[in-house]
Amino acid sequence: MSILNISALLHTAQHAIFRHVFKNVQIDTPRLILRPFTLDDIPAFHAILSQPEVMYYLPEGVMTLGEVREIVEWYQMCYEKDTPENIIKWTLAVWLKSDGTPEQTEAHPELIGWAGVGPLEFDESQIEIFYGLARHHWGRGYATEAARAVLDYAFGTIGIKRLVGIANPENAASVKVLEKIGMTFEKKLVGLPEKFANDEGSYFYCKPV
Ligand SMILES: CC(C)(COP(=O)(O)OP(=O)(O)OC[C@H]1O[C@@H](n2cnc3c(N)ncnc32)[C@H](O)[C@@H]1OP(=O)(O)O)[C@@H](O)C(=O)NCCC(=O)NCCS
Repeated sequence: MSILNISALLHTAQHAIFRHVFKNVQIDTPRLILRPFTLDDIPAFHAILSQPEVMYYLPEGVMTLGEVREIVEWYQMCYEKDTPENIIKWTLAVWLKSDGTPEQTEAHPELIGWAGVGPLEFDESQIEIFYGLARHHWGRGYATEAARAVLDYAFGTIGIKRLVGIANPENAASVKVLEKIGMTFEKKLVGLPEKFANDEGSYFYCKPV
């Protein structure tokens, strides 16, 4: 076999591994399932991203159905292109297995949010963890459960060595989630360039592997 053929073979094998790591993945926790977004998820995801309370601290603001479609299509492109050394964005849909009501069983999970990792906007050499949930599911520990699962996967399977987290100090629940998943406060962000004004004054947390 020529060197060219071997390198093509290695490339194909590597691609298959990355698809396994980033695309064909399902993470199970006691109450949640995390898996890549599909186009079928768009209406339920839009129902979450159109809630003003959910989007209050996020730069995107409340999103339209068209914007949610675009973002899910972009997530899907990222699943194809992400590699451990170059994560563009890796965002998983967070599904609740069951809330204990008779209508909602394990066979009919509900899309309740998102969680993932990707480069920080103002410093792309650092990988940030993020998460969000539909308003009516806040306060039951689901965000912590989802974020911990993503963190474990990022360190254990993707092989990331350091994760960071950003939270507006007024977003007390998000600060708490970062602390509960074991991240350490490093600094308050000051003096960011104007285009990153949304993060100015935020708390910066980190966790080395
Ligand atoms: C941030 C967010 C995901 C938290 O979700 P959640 O399901 O409420 O989180 P959890 O239940 O896992 O944990 C929240 C913790 O914050 C605490 N908390 C909530 N509101 C609080 C407040 N106003 N002050 C202090 N603590 C608060 C809760 O008591 C809980 O801590 P505990 O388990 O020790 O009691 C949710 O508020 C959200 O979706 N916000 C909008 C999106 C967002 O801002 N994402 C973060 C930026 S990436």
